[in-house]
Amino acid sequence: MTEIRRPDNMQRITTPELASAFIEEQIKALKEQIGNKKVLLALSGGVDSSVVAALLIKAVGKQLTCVHVNHGLLRKGEPEQVIEVFRNQMNADLIYVDAVDRFLDKLAGVSDPETKRKIIGAEFIEVFAEEARKLEGVELLAQGTIWPDILESEDGIKAHHNAGGLPDDLNFELVEPVRILFKDEVRMVGKALGLPDGMVFRQPFPGPGLGVRCTGAITRDRLEALREADAILREEFASAGLAGKVWQYFVIVPDYKSTGVKDGKRAFEWPAIIRAVNTRDAMSATIERIDYDLLEKITARITAEVPGINRVLYDLTPKPTGTIEWE
Ligand code: XMP
Repeated sequence: MTEIRRPDNMQRITTPELASAFIEEQIKALKEQIGNKKVLLALSGGVDSSVVAALLIKAVGKQLTCVHVNHGLLRKGEPEQVIEVFRNQMNADLIYVDAVDRFLDKLAGVSDPETKRKIIGAEFIEVFAEEARKLEGVELLAQGTIWPDILESEDGIKAHHNAGGLPDDLNFELVEPVRILFKDEVRMVGKALGLPDGMVFRQPFPGPGLGVRCTGAITRDRLEALREADAILREEFASAGLAGKVWQYFVIVPDYKSTGVKDGKRAFEWPAIIRAVNTRDAMSATIERIDYDLLEKITARITAEVPGINRVLYDLTPKPTGTIEWE
């Protein structure tokens, strides 16, 4: 099969009309490629896989099976949103896999960041492959590959994280309906397909999820504290009108405690570190100058509402010298 490439003269999809035209064209192409075969998709709930799912549901409906793996490192409310949008609203054939214990047991006691990433990546493939083998007659695998993935892998910047990784017995033909699109175009298409804004305009989120923000060896209590603190940060950024404006914002809860006082008693607890950055391409980043009143409000909420956290810090470091994630 010849590789599909973005035509040099392709118009950037910047309007709902252009998005609708792309959708019509893709649905035709998908119907042609898929025929009456079955397609499988790993649906993380991120922008790219969600748009691919929505396109495929339109094109081939129940011939698509989506697998959502909850590895325990997703943000608060994410697995529920995937189920609500795709199973309940779009009537998709969705398999929800609760793999939380599997992942957290494998990660227990592992503190090296690269080892953590490898475990998460390998376990994900393992869980997905197990689900794929349970299904009968699936010949195609859909992926949310986008145009920058192709360009970056050609430039040797990063290994193309989609395409492949599955064991040899799972030899699927690929379906990549957003392959020639840039990220902003994927969002336009997602909006035109009726996906909720919270999904379409979502900030970038790393594959290893909260795992790289719960630094060192992950424990369930610290991971829960991180998930709650992160949810408060996102809620307050949304109320302050910053949600669509700041490129990426999140919380880190390091494996370190300090002395504090809560309700007149000594509280030896973790800090929550806030990171909010702006960038074009994630290669370098600047710090968002957050209003002090907002920082104080977030601090008050996190320390009052999240068990185990007694301090809030703001990371003032641009990239370089800090990377965006802490691990
Ligand atoms: P760094 O930390 O390298 O992050 O400055 C740059 C951007 O990439 C995201 N990131 C990842 N995304 N898998 C991903 O899919 C990963 O392992 C990963 N690590 C970092 C990060 O969130 C930021 O947007």
